[in-house]
Amino acid sequence: MVHRLNIGILGLLLLGSLGLETVRANTGQDAWLRYAPLESGTLKKYDSMPASLIVLGDSAVLRSAQEEMMRGVKGMTGKTLRAGKSGRERAIVLGTYAAIRAAAPALVLPSSLGPDGFWLVSAKFRGFDSLIITSLTERGVLYGAFALLSKVARGENIDPLNEEQQPYAPIRWVDQWDNLSGTIERGYAGPSIFFEKGSVRADLTRAGEYARLLASIGINGCTINNVNADPRIIDDSFLPQLARVADVFRSWGVQLAVSVDLSSPKVLGNLDGFDPLDLRVIEYWGSKVDKIYRQIPDFGGFVVKADSEGRSGPSSYGRTPADAANVIARALNPHGGILFYRAFVYDHHLDWRNPKNDRARAAYDIFHPLDGKFDDNVIIQIKYGPIDFQAREPVSPLFGGLEKTNQGIELQITQEYTGQQRHLVFLPTMWKEILDFDFRINDGGTPVKDLVAGKKFRRPAGAFVGVANVGMNPNWLGHPLALANLYGFGRLAWDPNLSTKTFAEEWTRLTFGNDSVVTKTITAMLLTSWRTYENYTGPLGAQTLTDITGSHYGPGIESSERNGWGQWHRADHEGIGMDRTVETGTGFTGQYPPAIRDLYESLQATPDDLLLFFHHVPYTYRLHSGNTVIQHIYDSHYEGAEQAADFVLQWKSLEHRVPDGLYTDVLARLEYQAGHAIVWRDAICNWFLRTSGIPDAKGRVGNYPDRIEAEAMQLKGYTAMDVTPWENASGGKGIECLKLSTCTASFHFGRTAGIYDMDVQYFDQNNGESTFRIFVANRQINEWVASDRLPATKPGGDSSTRHRIHRLALRLGDEIRIEGIPDGEERAPLDYVELHESTE
Ligand code: GCU
Repeated sequence: MVHRLNIGILGLLLLGSLGLETVRANTGQDAWLRYAPLESGTLKKYDSMPASLIVLGDSAVLRSAQEEMMRGVKGMTGKTLRAGKSGRERAIVLGTYAAIRAAAPALVLPSSLGPDGFWLVSAKFRGFDSLIITSLTERGVLYGAFALLSKVARGENIDPLNEEQQPYAPIRWVDQWDNLSGTIERGYAGPSIFFEKGSVRADLTRAGEYARLLASIGINGCTINNVNADPRIIDDSFLPQLARVADVFRSWGVQLAVSVDLSSPKVLGNLDGFDPLDLRVIEYWGSKVDKIYRQIPDFGGFVVKADSEGRSGPSSYGRTPADAANVIARALNPHGGILFYRAFVYDHHLDWRNPKNDRARAAYDIFHPLDGKFDDNVIIQIKYGPIDFQAREPVSPLFGGLEKTNQGIELQITQEYTGQQRHLVFLPTMWKEILDFDFRINDGGTPVKDLVAGKKFRRPAGAFVGVANVGMNPNWLGHPLALANLYGFGRLAWDPNLSTKTFAEEWTRLTFGNDSVVTKTITAMLLTSWRTYENYTGPLGAQTLTDITGSHYGPGIESSERNGWGQWHRADHEGIGMDRTVETGTGFTGQYPPAIRDLYESLQATPDDLLLFFHHVPYTYRLHSGNTVIQHIYDSHYEGAEQAADFVLQWKSLEHRVPDGLYTDVLARLEYQAGHAIVWRDAICNWFLRTSGIPDAKGRVGNYPDRIEAEAMQLKGYTAMDVTPWENASGGKGIECLKLSTCTASFHFGRTAGIYDMDVQYFDQNNGESTFRIFVANRQINEWVASDRLPATKPGGDSSTRHRIHRLALRLGDEIRIEGIPDGEERAPLDYVELHESTE
């Protein structure tokens, strides 16, 4: 508490002395568009930048570009760009090709650029050396303005400039899974920026700021509501509200789209059904779409989730996804709208006892036979893997299974299965592997990025879609470093050939400034974070061993088994993994083109990282690494937890180099992550130790010499409890205070006197705020309130949290006493205490 107070005062002093710029930087609201003042060395580089700005034309998008240039240049250099006088002085010139050509016919523009691409060029404009930002479209001009400002923020040379950029795919959208109530499905950063209490928000300021962020990375569309769509989203009475969102998007070149429920004709249109081939249903969609375009002329289109996880769909009428998709697409087509039909269609009541059943097969089994049957304004939106956003999955075979149909890739920016923005996981590292994955169709280079961009089979459309789920949290995604995922998505959608290092560095510089120590440290943390997370949550392609039927957050190893959801890993006493081979398994490998099928069909050829996705093997099976599967499980989890602990040290090396508030915020998150990584490590290692009966060759699993179990302490008021599943608490047990007042747990320190760090492992539920107090030899040395909002109402793997007390002087025989004061449903639950000799 005392500690917190200090930070508060220090924070206030800093706010007072550093001014607004730093405050905003601290909250993260400006994300990578901070435009912070450049330090003097960098600033010099831009001495010769034109001091005036000419904008050719007048439109909402061009005005955004103009204002952005003014804002950026002012913020970074302190100079106010004046309105340039054409033909009288050097200027930064913004305008479309047509406008530039009309104003300066002598200028030869490149013929290769397509829509949204831009050209930044130092050239004479009406006799003066100028810096021209141009594109076929106004949106492209806006993208060019952002690109120029990004260069300045990162201290790149801009004199002379001659750079053309063209986005890889025409459609680069984000999806939000926002509910009309204002909650967000799988959102971890506060309520919706679009909706509250059943309506569109009165104040759409954040929505406008979001559109600006999206535009800065080349995102040109946004679907604003949950794929599990509320039919009311397209109710006639709702359309004026949607139009308000489109209005704030428009000036940033972001098209509005919504997810629709296929049963809308019945639910909203009062028809007796929604059979896509029923003429009345066809008419319904036609007239609904016309009404939408009357109010939102640049409306982007619809997303459809049907016949999936309980959603209604064409199967109710014996119709195919193509029937359903085309009917709506034909209504959208005259207006230029797109219909995204999600390939995430599967039966979640699969019989788990049948070894041939396999959810991974579903998308390909359903959509491959329909290849060529979809209209040209339909895009099949395919999750990157055949299951569901796991930390590691093979690439969905459906990408290789559609040659005559548009396809788009669906990536997940919100970290549903990857730590929910409480764990640092830079996902572009994984996305890049997926996008580069080569299907080797007809032996030719067939990377996923070329399939989804429509390049390989010359499709009229292709798309990158990222499920973002930003919220009202000032820094959009909750974890300040998670914004690198949104930025990285945009950069990869724009150019999947960029290296992750390149844009991880870009993001770091834009967010934290150009201090090379900061750039190096954060970039290194980002680039290793996916593997780290995978290491402690479930390696070798067994998928994220999380609570599948609940939060998708903490460990829940058996939750995936013996139910119809089909995320099975099939671990038993002898072995682990799903046999998905053609020869003896589910036949899933047969969905890949021959070269890939052969790779995964063979136990020996399958890469270690995906082994358990494709094969069931004994725990003693030897990997390419030389390790057995079981020893790999132990080692990787210990390694992962150590790497997570190392993130804390890496971050600490940046103290005073990053803004103070941001520093403490991220530090607290990384410390939490390090603690939770141990929860994961221990749950998984102990579960596999018990299940396999094979001990850890290094003797770590099950042996915790520094640990004192709470249930083994002297308890007053506290009682021992079983935690379910058992592996989510040390020794399967914890203690809880069932009284209304204080309970205590104590023990005597039995080691040599010295300076120790003490970790208290407790459970922080979201249905109470217990208080914990620590006493050493009757003197209170620490107190905290368990007030986090973790996704848990009971003690377990989701709520297990670590509180570290640094540098505690202890003598042999000292009594260490923990007082727990319960609150609400949270019974001051404790798991254990660990004491380590301090190395700090
Ligand atoms: C996951 C997620 C759901 C979501 C679904 C989808 O299963 O947990 O919340 O609705 O994906 O993508 O449709």
